[in-house]
Amino acid sequence: MQVGSGADLCCFSENKMMIQPIEWKNGEVRFLDQKKLPEEEHYCQTGNLADLEEAILKLKIRGAPLLGIAAAYGVLLGVRDFQTAPSEVFLKKFNETCARLARTRPTAKNLFWALERMKEVVRLNSKDDVPTLFEKLVREALAVHEEDRQMCDAIGKFGAELIPESAVILTHCNTGALATGGIGTAQGIITTAHAQGKTISVFADETRPLLQGARLTAWELQRAGINVTLITDSTAAWTIRTKKVHCIITGADRIAANGDSANKIGTYNLAVLAKEHSIPFYIAAPVSTIDTTLTTGEEIVIEERGSEEVAEGFGRRTAPKDIKVFSPAFDVTPHELITALVTDKGILRPPFFQSIQSVMR
Ligand code: MRU
Repeated sequence: MQVGSGADLCCFSENKMMIQPIEWKNGEVRFLDQKKLPEEEHYCQTGNLADLEEAILKLKIRGAPLLGIAAAYGVLLGVRDFQTAPSEVFLKKFNETCARLARTRPTAKNLFWALERMKEVVRLNSKDDVPTLFEKLVREALAVHEEDRQMCDAIGKFGAELIPESAVILTHCNTGALATGGIGTAQGIITTAHAQGKTISVFADETRPLLQGARLTAWELQRAGINVTLITDSTAAWTIRTKKVHCIITGADRIAANGDSANKIGTYNLAVLAKEHSIPFYIAAPVSTIDTTLTTGEEIVIEERGSEEVAEGFGRRTAPKDIKVFSPAFDVTPHELITALVTDKGILRPPFFQSIQSVMR
């Protein structure tokens, strides 16, 4: 066991089959440092909100549903030392914590959805004494986690119906157990179809610049015994054409009311390729990713990342010093290019405005 940077942060490595990317443990958050994968399975435990914020900003914890779960647990870290404080002090800390977590990453709807759930607990129980309120917040955070696990199972079941025997699937970024509280979204569909006995082959985009596909998806699928082949992002068109790809499935970070979907940069490219090659393009996400306050994807805030992730990725400079870099973390796929949205409430088909309305009611 090593002692990490933060005062309360302790880290240790271990090798287990089950992936548990985050958990609430003894009043602290224990999480898998995804930046160290695939070389090292390294877990950290902290009671400190600043450590959790840093883990989110540095993508040690990432993936839209997991960010929601992390935000819920982050709220607990922010207030846990104020359980004996007067109610107004506790509530002030609660509001400050929610505001801090909301500033970490702007695109994933799930993060804000989870914060709203925590705020609703406070709104509905404002007369409770502080320890009782804290206990209710703990229960809510655990429920956010457990419900995400169930949502993943439902997405897996609905989505597996779309996957024929011997399917060849292309996916992007990481949407598996590492990105969620359960088996994953797009990857949950793949693992469910595999568990049903279907023979599946997967091509995983490496996902520049942070290589979530290479480091995380390839690792997870290989570990699950699924036939996975890693490709560079620029190999996608040629792979679709020459390897008889049956469909493309990705996750989403935020889905507008009309079905426009933000996901990892490069997803839009794939949707265009799917249209050109007349294959289905599916997005898999829980309804907690849908944001009906946004009419179209144009209103989705797209996070921009630092230039070093492109020009000096993984510690080695690969572009001239001071080069200008444009590095959006996400793009928006227009709804016209999406064949179906696979949610925990079922498979939504166009016109998405209507099908989304019907599940959100
Ligand atoms: O920047 P990241 O790694 O958090 O981006 C993750 C993605 O874009 C995923 O595809 C998305 O969150 C869906 S995860 C089930």
